[in-house]
Amino acid sequence: MDSLSRTLEKLEKDNKKKGSVKQVPLDGCVPFSHQVAGHKCGINNTGVLQHPDGTILKQLQPPPRGPREMHFYTQVYAKDCTDTRLMDLQQHLPKFYGTWAPRETPNELYLKLEDVTKRFLRPCIMDVKIGKRSYDPFASQEKRKEQISKYPLMEEIGFLLLGMRVYQIDSDSYITHDQFYGRSLGKDTIKNGLTRFFHNGQDLQRHAVSLIISKIRSILRWFESQTQLHFYASSLLLVYEGSPRTVNGWKHKRAEIGREHQQGEPQSNCNKPREALSVQGSLTHSHPYCHERNANGMCVGSVEVEHEEIGMGDKKQFGQEAVEVKMIDFAHVFPSNSPDEGYMFGLRNLLSTLEQILKD
Ligand SMILES: Nc1ncnc2c1ncn2[C@@H]1O[C@H](COP(=O)(O)OP(=O)(O)O)[C@@H](O)[C@H]1O
Ligand SMILES: [Mg+2]
Repeated sequence: MDSLSRTLEKLEKDNKKKGSVKQVPLDGCVPFSHQVAGHKCGINNTGVLQHPDGTILKQLQPPPRGPREMHFYTQVYAKDCTDTRLMDLQQHLPKFYGTWAPRETPNELYLKLEDVTKRFLRPCIMDVKIGKRSYDPFASQEKRKEQISKYPLMEEIGFLLLGMRVYQIDSDSYITHDQFYGRSLGKDTIKNGLTRFFHNGQDLQRHAVSLIISKIRSILRWFESQTQLHFYASSLLLVYEGSPRTVNGWKHKRAEIGREHQQGEPQSNCNKPREALSVQGSLTHSHPYCHERNANGMCVGSVEVEHEEIGMGDKKQFGQEAVEVKMIDFAHVFPSNSPDEGYMFGLRNLLSTLEQILKD
């Protein structure tokens, strides 16, 4: 029995034992092993899943949050979208492949998204919540209090580390920190907290810091140019390559959704099955990016990454591809007619803390 089948069997057994714990839908989907924060597999929730085609599935949260997030993705990726601000935003979001539902429970909707960590050999991942406030303007008094009490410094610091995993070279393993670590950081320690994310046990990955800074600056420029949306309790997902190895020959790699994408990826890196599995379940919305379809009606697209080199081994060859910064988690995005000062405050503070790390 391979490790995937073992994981699924164990999960099913555990679920049966616990009774109330949500059954993970089969259809070849497994819990996403690179999830660092957010709702995890538990009561009434499957957490983030990985589909056999390499995309991830985020279960729609109960209304109004889930439908709001779905509406946001649908709006930004609408085929007939003519709003240039929204079109510009696409580059800062995971690609959106519509909604998905398991065959067994077709009413249970998931957002089908690009896995931002996919092209990395040893992804170091951090989820940072951005903004002065974690509650939206319609939140009840109780909700406001709850959110403020979770991290009273949000107003002052403008961001909160929700979770991270950092590859350690010597031990060939990951160090992880959860939300409680982030909440323990204050004004005097936040820089050290962030620094941990860039330390592989041997060196500070300064190149990753500066490349991530430039991607965050680009997101800040988008915010400076728009007044139509406000984001609350939304995150940036920061990823950089933790592997010291460089990998050649990934240029213009074509991939089909429904087929294993990555080459040269160590099996231990993630929970993706090595062999292609047929795509099951149903796409209940059409794929907004879908230019071509294969014989099964599934979308076929090219992986956009053009890897010259990835990895941190040879810094001269270390390109933009070795980092990724994407905005995620849009359950509290609202229309507006003014700049999103709270989010920009958080981005600027995050940027200056990262710049400070480079100066030290
Ligand atoms: N597109 C993505 N690619 C890779 N990982 C993702 C992606 N979206 C979410 N994740 C992972 O799942 C976690 C939870 O996602 P999020 O959208 O914040 O859900 P929640 O609403 O439960 O907070 C993130 O911290 C991240 O680790
Ligand atoms: Mg989240």
